[in-house]
Amino acid sequence: MQKIVIVMPSYNEADNITRMIEELFIKEFPQIKDAEMHLLVVDDNSPDGTGKIVKEKMEKHENLHLLTGQKQGLGWAYIRGFKYAMDKLGADAVMEMDADFQHPPRFVKDMVKAYSDGADYVIGSRYIKGGSVPRQWALSRKAISYFGNLFIRLVLVKPKLHDLTTGFRLMKVKGVLDKIDLDNLMEPTRFAYKVDLLYQCIKNAKKTVEVPLEFAPRTKEQSKFNPKEMISTFKVAIILGIRDKKRFIKFGTVGFTGYIINAVALELFSGTAIASTFASFFTVLKGTVLGFIAEPSAWAAGIAAELAIINNFTFNNIWTFKAEKIKGFFNIVRKFLEFNLAALGSVVIQFVVIGLMVVLFGDTRLIRQLGILVSLPLVLSFNYTMYNLFIWKTWKLPWRK
Ligand code: GDD
Ligand code: MN
Repeated sequence: MQKIVIVMPSYNEADNITRMIEELFIKEFPQIKDAEMHLLVVDDNSPDGTGKIVKEKMEKHENLHLLTGQKQGLGWAYIRGFKYAMDKLGADAVMEMDADFQHPPRFVKDMVKAYSDGADYVIGSRYIKGGSVPRQWALSRKAISYFGNLFIRLVLVKPKLHDLTTGFRLMKVKGVLDKIDLDNLMEPTRFAYKVDLLYQCIKNAKKTVEVPLEFAPRTKEQSKFNPKEMISTFKVAIILGIRDKKRFIKFGTVGFTGYIINAVALELFSGTAIASTFASFFTVLKGTVLGFIAEPSAWAAGIAAELAIINNFTFNNIWTFKAEKIKGFFNIVRKFLEFNLAALGSVVIQFVVIGLMVVLFGDTRLIRQLGILVSLPLVLSFNYTMYNLFIWKTWKLPWRK
């Protein structure tokens, strides 16, 4: 049986917490047959006595837990809660949920069902069919929530997900939450931690699923969300968005230096003794189809290309993929050979593209040079994909562990 711990931070929720505990333990949990449900309230010593109420209720409900501490903000409350759920309660999955009934308890079972059906990350979404934001919300509030979300979707390039700021989510511990460095989440004192956590969970998860959530209006009191929280949320999204593109920019820069080295080395080596020495071993081939092997410039081109490959491998390894740096002599040799194999792919792409263009439009310098330009996006995407999938392995294939 899977153990699922709902981590519920509370600050001055005395008006809500009793009913919340009752609804979960008496109405909702008994309906969930395929998981053992626990509730962990993380109360930051609420002056209104929320923690005391939970403590009393714990006598009645065995699966109710309380973690208290100093108020350090929402992110830290969750981080403490997650750690406790994983280390002390042995959770298989944890949920994020608010105590103020904005996440109606009846939606818990839908989240658990998605998990039981194989999702390792479940997002309670207000912006898919069946989900909603409170009808009472003013148009301006609805617009801020909707466009804020849209903005984050664009910045993070997550068009397939619809709610990136929701506070109602479920994550599997093994492979998703336990892979995250919780102590170094961005903006842990704020609501913005949610975007960083979401981003990392999506990366780790093999199957992310959105489940409709009808976000309810707040019962009493004021929301703790404010413009400051909103700005920091956008900030986190932008930093995460750029961080990923940064790798691509570095990759492009290294590729460009490789290109320069290739071009310069070709001119430097053609006409040198090295190139003509290599070529001279093959003078017998002159006049045959393999005659190019006897050409010093062909050897110069080969040397130049290999120098560019060495340059690209080295700088991608120590710069573009710094965090995944390949170390150790034998590893480096093996990866370098694989890298050369990948480079062969670009040769094939250019061979086919330029070959086809020459056949279609005639063999002129213009067409050949255009051919290089047309191949470029293909070569770049091909290389970038190869590096991320096979060389430095920053992307994982869904069917591979
Ligand atoms: N322990 C602890 N410490 N709990 C806190 C703190 C804190 O510093 N700040 C807030 N909480 C608790 C509240 O008691 C409530 O249970 C929950 O965290 C959410 O706080 P709200 O103040 O109700 O947040 P909200 O309604 O504005 O924001 C909700 O919706 C947003 C999306 O519109 C949250 O679910 C956000 O996570 C979500 O992004
Ligand atoms: Mn709320």
